[in-house]
Amino acid sequence: MDGKPHPNKDHRFRVLEATMKRHQYQPNSLIEVLHKAQELFGYLEQDVLLHIAHSLKLPPSQVYGVATFYHFFSLTPSGRHTCVVCMGTACFVKGAASLLSTVEQIAQIQTGETTRDGCLSLSTARCLGACGSAPAVVLDGQVVGYQTSEKLGQQVTQMMGHPQCKVAT
Ligand code: FES
Repeated sequence: MDGKPHPNKDHRFRVLEATMKRHQYQPNSLIEVLHKAQELFGYLEQDVLLHIAHSLKLPPSQVYGVATFYHFFSLTPSGRHTCVVCMGTACFVKGAASLLSTVEQIAQIQTGETTRDGCLSLSTARCLGACGSAPAVVLDGQVVGYQTSEKLGQQVTQMMGHPQCKVAT
């Protein structure tokens, strides 16, 4: 589990919880919930799928089956590093669009793409539930608030220069 915080500590699980609650934990909200999970986590990892199965009282095999059936769900991170830029209202008004274009320029990719060397995947979310620290992004699974193009640009440049990325091709 690569040192990931316990669900209670991980802010993204709280947002996922709120989504499931809004759907009254109805099993037929599975697809919407999976969409939200992918938006928050960048892909659907196993413990997230299990958490959803448990919360919606569905057999894990069914949740896994749905997640693998639809091509728009991904069960593995496509890039070694992931960057999710929140484009929700609070983040948008605080400059999320320029954060996104900064990453697109540095990585030379568009939203939803992964760099050719497999180093970085870029995606967007509608709200990470961190509006108080807008504009927020998720870098390698960590929600980071109060971003500026300069700060984010430096972090992404650093990620892309990491030795792990150099051996990716
Ligand atoms: S709108 Fe970005 S965290 Fe809520």
